[in-house]
Amino acid sequence: MNFYLHPQIVSTMSSGIGYGKTILFGEHFVVYGLPAIASALGSKTVATVENAIKYELVDDRPATPGYKKEKFDEQVESNKLIYKACGIDVEKTPLKVTLAGDLKVASGVGASAASAAAIARALNEHFDLGYDDARINEVAYEGEKGYHGKPSGIDNTAAVYGGLIWFVKNLSGGKNTMDLLKMPKPVEIVLGNTGLTSSTKEVVEDVKKDREAHKNKYDRIFTEYIHIADSAKAALLKGDMKSVGRLMDQNHGLLNEMNLSCDELELLVETARDHGAPGAKLTGTGRGGLMIALTPGKALQEKVAKAIEKEGFETFRTRIGV
Ligand code: PMV
Repeated sequence: MNFYLHPQIVSTMSSGIGYGKTILFGEHFVVYGLPAIASALGSKTVATVENAIKYELVDDRPATPGYKKEKFDEQVESNKLIYKACGIDVEKTPLKVTLAGDLKVASGVGASAASAAAIARALNEHFDLGYDDARINEVAYEGEKGYHGKPSGIDNTAAVYGGLIWFVKNLSGGKNTMDLLKMPKPVEIVLGNTGLTSSTKEVVEDVKKDREAHKNKYDRIFTEYIHIADSAKAALLKGDMKSVGRLMDQNHGLLNEMNLSCDELELLVETARDHGAPGAKLTGTGRGGLMIALTPGKALQEKVAKAIEKEGFETFRTRIGV
């Protein structure tokens, strides 16, 4: 179904939101059908859609320097896929799409998924498409494909539903498993930004090649990871942050073996641990992007964030399990 609207007929503005996210456990493993645990962030991207004379995309999101330029082509491709999934022809129904919100976009915060979910929600409202969250999530997943060919779906799921999520991709194309986890109380975290933007598409492809070349090594890593994920789920549900931290460190160790860390991430992880974080790891694609440190309590969060800032890196103070 396609929608053709004359720009002068309807001039309302519609909006939608998508949450940023952080992956606590299982980036990359999730691509291979292993479980991952992600938490939505309090910060979000807001998309507004209005009729226009000519199609226009205005990106007013706060961003890490270089991020928008680096991702521009992928963003254009992603938006095309979103419009297609919604049956909207922006040549015939020109729109002005504006992205804003308080999610500072960087590699690792699920920025692309937050934006895809926000645009899908805004289009749903604008064209009265009658989509429920499950359909919004499907559209956001289509949008994610513009950023990399084979997204696991974890980012768009967190962006659409929010909360703390246990996620398993169904590799046969069926419904993914998605369970909402409830922690006894929210817990503070610090995200440290390397300032480096990495390409998810390229890094996911590298891991695939590396796995093909080192099958035994990856079999061992995957088996170890499954134990980590199961234990992490139990520890999060109990609110046992000491164990969660230890398991994050172990998860980081495995990601390191998969060549996904870099000097900047190692410095961030070390700084967080040295200043009392019970656990720290890279989060998201790796080889840049973000580090997540578990920092229960506001005082520890402040101490770790300050130490990272002293090293010259930007930080985000937020909570998981909200
Ligand atoms: O860098 P991010 O936040 O977009 O996370 C990517 C997570 C991967 O597992 C590497 C890819 C995926 O599709 O899940």
